[in-house]
Amino acid sequence: MYVLGIETSCDETAISVVKDGNEVLSNVIFSQEKIHEAFGGVFPELASRSHLEAILPALEKALSDASLSLQQIDLIAVAAHPGLMGSLLMGVTASKALAFALDKPFVAVNHIEAHLYVSLMKEPSFPALGLVVSGGHTSLYHITDETTYNLISQTVDDAIGEAFDKVARLLELPYPGGPHVEALAKTGDPKRYPFKEAFVKQDPLAFSFSGLKTQVFYALQGKELSEQDRADLAASFQETALQMVVKKSLKVAKNLDTKSLYIGGGVSANKRLRELFTQESPLDLKIFWPPKGLSIDNGAMIAGLGYHLYKKKGASDLFDVSPEPTSRIKHLSFSE
Ligand code: KG4
Ligand code: ZN
Repeated sequence: MYVLGIETSCDETAISVVKDGNEVLSNVIFSQEKIHEAFGGVFPELASRSHLEAILPALEKALSDASLSLQQIDLIAVAAHPGLMGSLLMGVTASKALAFALDKPFVAVNHIEAHLYVSLMKEPSFPALGLVVSGGHTSLYHITDETTYNLISQTVDDAIGEAFDKVARLLELPYPGGPHVEALAKTGDPKRYPFKEAFVKQDPLAFSFSGLKTQVFYALQGKELSEQDRADLAASFQETALQMVVKKSLKVAKNLDTKSLYIGGGVSANKRLRELFTQESPLDLKIFWPPKGLSIDNGAMIAGLGYHLYKKKGASDLFDVSPEPTSRIKHLSFSE
C-alpha cells in the first residue's frame, strides 16, 4: 500500500511516500529556516504563505523520487493537529482536495504521535514508553500499539526545544538555537553554573523549563561574557535540561516496567542526550531513536502512522476533519 504523507504543521513543507507503513520511498523536506531566521522564531503568517508556494513542488518531487504517479497512491495522510493553525490549514486543505479529486481514502494524523511512530516503525515492541522532545512539546506517553499513545505527563510551561531556542537568543546564537547551543557546549564546563532542576509540586512527573531559562538569564545579565563563559553557560544549561528529561523518563520506564523507550522530536538530534541515555539507562531497557533524516518534521512519519490508523479504524471523513492547533489527547491517570 502506497501512502502519501503531508506535513505542514510548523515551518517545514514535508511530503513523503511510504510503502506498507515502514518503507520510506521518498522524503522531501522544504525548510523555511531562512525565512524565519530574521525573526528569531517562526512567523506564522509567512509560514502558511510559504507552505502554499512549496506544497505542489514538494508533492511533485516526492512522487518522482518514489517513481510513482499520483494515481498509484492508495491513501493520503495528513498532519491535522497540533500545530500552527494557518500552517496546518495548508496541508489539510491540499490533502482533502487531492483525496476528493482522486477519489482516494484520506486519514488525519496527530503530529506528535507521528514523531514517536518513526522511531518504533522498524522494531515495534509493546507496551513501551514514548518521549517527545521537540520545539513545541516535552511529553511522555504510554504506547500500547502502533496507534495508541496515552499521555502520561508533559511540560507545564516551555518545551525543551523552546528553552534551547530561548537560551540561544540570550547567547546571541542563530535560530533555531538547539544545534548552536550544543556546538558551543562542547567546549564548556557543565559544572561551572550550578543550575537547579525544576520540580513541579502538583505533578512530579511533569516537566518545566521556564525556570531554567530564567536562571540562565540572571547568570548572564549585565555581565561582560568571555567566549569561555558563554560555552560554560551553554554546557551548564544543556546538562541541566537534558538530565531532567533523562531522569524522569528512566523513572517512568521503571515504574511502567517497560523494556522499550521510543524517542522522537527535534531535540533527539542532540548527541549529549544520546550519551546520557546510554550512560544512565539500565541494560534491559532498549532505546530507539528516529532514523536519520526523520527526527525533524517530515511526511514519512505521517504516512507511516496514517497507514496503521487506516488499517485499524478506516478512513477519516473528508468533511469532518479540520485542523486543530492543540492535541486531542487522552491523559492517562498515572501516579509515581
Ligand atoms: O520536532 P521539531 O522539528 O519541532 C517541533 O515539531 O516542535 O524540533 C525543533 C526543535 C527546535 O527547538 C530546535 O532548536 C531543537 O528541536 N533542536 C535541538 C537540536 N536540534 C534541533 N535542540 C538541542 N540540540 C540539538 N542538536
Ligand atoms: Zn514536530
